Amino acid sequence: MKILVVGKGGREHAIVTALDESPSQTEIYSFPGSDAIFEIAKETPATDLPSLMAFMKSEGIDLCVAGEESYLVKDEGLANACEAADIPCWGPPKEAAQLEASKEFAKEFMVRHEIPTGGYAAVDSLEQAREAIAGKYPTVLKFDGLAAGKGVAVCVDEAMAEEFLAEVYVEKKFGEGRVLVEEFLEGPEISIFCSVVNDQYQILAPARDYKRLGDGDEGPNTGGMGAVSSREMAEPELMARIDAEIIRPTIEGLIKDGLPYRGFLYFGIMLTGDGPKILEYNCRFGDPEAQAVLPLIEGDFAAYVFNGAAGNLDRSLIFFKNGWSICLVSASSGYPQNSRSGDVISGIEDVEGARVFHAGTKKNNEGQFETAGGRVLVVVASAETREAAVEKVYQQSAKISFDGLQQRTDIGVRNF
Ligand code: AMP
Ligand code: GLY
Repeated sequence: MKILVVGKGGREHAIVTALDESPSQTEIYSFPGSDAIFEIAKETPATDLPSLMAFMKSEGIDLCVAGEESYLVKDEGLANACEAADIPCWGPPKEAAQLEASKEFAKEFMVRHEIPTGGYAAVDSLEQAREAIAGKYPTVLKFDGLAAGKGVAVCVDEAMAEEFLAEVYVEKKFGEGRVLVEEFLEGPEISIFCSVVNDQYQILAPARDYKRLGDGDEGPNTGGMGAVSSREMAEPELMARIDAEIIRPTIEGLIKDGLPYRGFLYFGIMLTGDGPKILEYNCRFGDPEAQAVLPLIEGDFAAYVFNGAAGNLDRSLIFFKNGWSICLVSASSGYPQNSRSGDVISGIEDVEGARVFHAGTKKNNEGQFETAGGRVLVVVASAETREAAVEKVYQQSAKISFDGLQQRTDIGVRNF
């Protein structure tokens, strides 16, 4: 089976690894890929969606897996282009991917299908935003578009809100688009990952990511400094409630709205005093959650994804390990503001009994890996208990070093 994975980060390194380790015979390609990914997958000469499609057709690719979101909504859409070319794609068409690409589309979908979520107003200008906030803090402001996780501000006061609004309307940092002013919700967060094939779905595992740079959830927002996954994170009663109130109505909503869907669907959920409420959808696996969740999946992941992309969700092809999986991110000096690149990384080969997935690395002329981005790499360890997984992940990650390495010391430490 020839599989092409779209993306280049730690999540895609984990996906490529899971496909490669599957019992099915696979030949894996990646676009755009990374030096670490290319130790497992083959490179492609593609530079954009049209050249990627031409490559997949000429190479006889059997399955395309969308790791990252951007190509799902670019040009005619990756899944749409694959459908036209008769190549099964694990990732939804552009129309359904609006659930992630447009926060307003997602909110309207949630309201239309009576899925519990916070109240909101969509605004077009600085004045309208101030009017919608109406002096009530904390408030949550979201730029309505793909902003690589940076278009959200939880504002505790007017100064913070004004700063974000200046980025949107004065500096135009994210381009053109509306802003959502959202009700501030409180509670522990949980992410639920599902595989969806139209009206069929399977809940894979809950996970939690740690978005802030510093210990105790302090400091600036990042792409994620670590993640934890375990089926023990949510009691069966809570999962049943999330399924009944959020997941099932979403799947039924997609059908009612005539939006076919094949791929991973990620539900970002806040467990408020008023019950679980959905914060957002992502039409893909999370990063760094994928790196924590995928090592917990056994069976034939490649066959599972291939069958799913072809329209058949075969739950019997995978099963889940018990225990806890913890993913610890090492970030570069200066992240998230100005990430420094070019620091040589040592110790990767000394890691034992844990996995290393590369997010922002490249090989230098001497063949050593060096930093090339904000989040550099992750170490993932699993164990029967959360405490044992924490100990193992920190022990193994300590073997890896580079100048300016930043890491949280509390990933997985606190219970939720
Ligand atoms: P989003 O990209 O929409 O998930 O937002 C990123 C993060 O901002 C979430 O994981 C939450 O921690 C926080 N957040 C988003 N929406 C809200 C909300 N309505 N109330 C409180 N926090 C929020
Ligand atoms: N970890 C959050 C995300 O992938 O969007």
